[in-house]
Amino acid sequence: MLKVLIFLAAIAFAEKLMLTVEELEQYDGRNGKIYIAVDGIIFDVTDGPSYQPKGSYSMFAGRDVTVALAKYSFDKKWLTMRPEEANLTEGQKKAVEGWKDFYAEKYPIIGELIPSKPREDI
Ligand code: HEM
Repeated sequence: MLKVLIFLAAIAFAEKLMLTVEELEQYDGRNGKIYIAVDGIIFDVTDGPSYQPKGSYSMFAGRDVTVALAKYSFDKKWLTMRPEEANLTEGQKKAVEGWKDFYAEKYPIIGELIPSKPREDI
């Protein structure tokens, strides 16, 4: 947790990526970079073998993986569900905190998720 806060403070003054979940999708490796989001924080996992096309967690690339981690499931529906729609239990929220610390220890934080832009076709 502390490490996340320190990183957030540091990047508050530096160049920080602000992406919607739709914009995050392009960072699935196709342009060289692989990013994932956990609880609003975007991590650069490009150097993680698990996120390469043949890695065990390749389906995480370019996604907000908060709900999948909370549910501890690879079901595609959790990889596309927004955390605020997921009705996570306190235990699941705690699990997410743990994963966030895990990622903060292992990978650079490079930005934050921002709310999606309103759809223009409705
Ligand atoms: C059959 C069940 C599972 C097995 C045997 C398993 C096994 C492993 C192993 C051996 C690692 C370390 C090596 C690696 O990164 O590939 C790992 C890492 C990891 N696992 Fe699993 N896992 C399972 C299920 C899951 C599920 C359901 C999730 C979450 C939806 C999950 C999330 C992760 C994450 C985030 C890492 C860290 C990857 C990294 O280093 O960046 N695992 N798992």
